[in-house]
Amino acid sequence: MGNPAGEDLEEKTVVFGITGGIAAYKAPMIVRGLKRLSLDVHVVTTDSAGYFVTPLVLQTLSGRPVLTEMFSEVPGSSYEIDHIALADQADLFLVAPATADFLAKLAHGIADDLLSCSILATKAPVLVCPSMNVNMLSNPATRDNIETLKRRGFHVLEPASGELACGWEGAGRLPEPDRIVSEVKMLLSRHDLSGINILITSGPTCEDIDPVRYITNRSTGKMGGAIVEAACLRGARVTVISGPVGIDYAPWATLIDARSAGEMLDAVRENLAGCDVLIMAAAVADYTPQMYSQNKIKKGEKMTHLELDSTPDILSTIRPLKESRIFVGFAAETDNLKTYAQDKMIRKGLDMIVANRVGEKGSGFASETNSGVVLSQEGVLYDFEHMAKETLAHKILDLVKDKL
Ligand SMILES: Cc1cc2nc3c(=O)[nH]c(=O)nc-3n(C[C@H](O)[C@H](O)[C@H](O)COP(=O)(O)O)c2cc1C
Repeated sequence: MGNPAGEDLEEKTVVFGITGGIAAYKAPMIVRGLKRLSLDVHVVTTDSAGYFVTPLVLQTLSGRPVLTEMFSEVPGSSYEIDHIALADQADLFLVAPATADFLAKLAHGIADDLLSCSILATKAPVLVCPSMNVNMLSNPATRDNIETLKRRGFHVLEPASGELACGWEGAGRLPEPDRIVSEVKMLLSRHDLSGINILITSGPTCEDIDPVRYITNRSTGKMGGAIVEAACLRGARVTVISGPVGIDYAPWATLIDARSAGEMLDAVRENLAGCDVLIMAAAVADYTPQMYSQNKIKKGEKMTHLELDSTPDILSTIRPLKESRIFVGFAAETDNLKTYAQDKMIRKGLDMIVANRVGEKGSGFASETNSGVVLSQEGVLYDFEHMAKETLAHKILDLVKDKL
C-alpha cells in the first residue's frame, strides 16, 4: 500500500533541537506527537533551553538521553562524535522554537554548540519554527536571517499571530504542536504524487429555506478530509471545495467554501481546468427548495409542505469537460451497493467509484472507518471492511496513481 499514516515514518530519525525561547514549554507535546508517528526522536537542547524545559521530561518522552554538551567527556550517549553522528543519522532536523539568536547563528554558519554544529554538518532537510516577540521577528536582522535560510533550502514554518507570552500582540507565536508535527510528517512522507493537481469536493451541501433553516445531509467531510490530507502528504497540489463542515482540512490544501450544490458546481467548473484528477467525495444534496424566503418564516405561518427542485448534477454537467482527467465518484448506499454504484459510474462516465455503506455502525457518515467497494470500468478493484478513512484515502490514491 502507498503511504498510510505513519507507515513510511517508522524507521526515520528526527533530531529535535530546542532553543531558549519561552515557547519551549510546548516542546514535550511536540516530542509526544513525533513519537506517536513512530519516529525515533533525538532531543538536542541549547544551554538556554534548559531554563525553559527540563531534560527529564524530554528524556522520558523521547526515550533517549537529551544532548546539550558538545565537549562532553562523560559517555552520555552512544555516539563517538556527537555532532557528526547526529548530522549523519538524521532524516530531518526540527528546531522548535527557534530563537532569533539561533536563526542568526544558522544564517551565518556559526557552530558554537552541539545543535548549531550538527545542523551545519547535516545533509538532511531542516525545519525551523521561529518564535519570539513581534518586534524581534519584524526586525530586519531577523527577517534577513529567515530569508537567507529559506533561500538556502531550509524549511521555515512561519509563526502564528496572537497574544504573545511577552504581553505583546502580533506575529511570533510558535504554531501549535500538532501543526508542527504535521509539517514533519509532510517533509518525511514519500511524495509519489508530486506534480499532480487534485481537485477534491468534500462535506455536505446546505440548501437554504430561509436565513435560519436549510436542508442538508449527514456528511461530516471526514472522508474528503482524509483524502485531502493523504494527497497533500504525498506531494500533490490539492484544492478542496467544501460544504460547511466542522473539521479542519490539511493546512497545505487550498480551501474553497461552497454552501449549496449550485455553488459547488460553479466552484468545480472554475477549478477543473488546472486539475489532473477530480475526486467527488462531497455528499451533494439532491433537492433544493424551490423558493428561498429572504425573511425568516415565522412559526405561526402555515407551512405544510416544501416544494423542492432537483439540484444540478455536478458530474453530468462537467462530463463534457473531462478530457484525459481521472474522475472518481463516491456513492453512499444502504443496499445493493455494488449494483447502484456500478450504474452511477457508467451513467456519469467515471473512471472509478468508491461505494460506501451507510446506515450501519462503523461505516459512512461521521464514522472513523468505512466499508464498501471500489469499482472501475474493469470491475471490482478493492473491497474494504471497517477500514480507517485515512488508510482508505491512501488506497484510493494508490488506485488513482495506477491510472495516471
Ligand atoms: C524569559 C525569557 C524568554 C525568552 N523568550 C524568547 C523567545 O521567545 N524567542 C527568542 O528568540 N528569544 C527569547 N529569549 C532570549 C533568548 O533566551 C536568548 O536570546 C538566548 O541567548 C537564546 O539562546 P539560544 O538561541 O542558544 O537558545 C528569552 C529570554 C528570556 C529570559
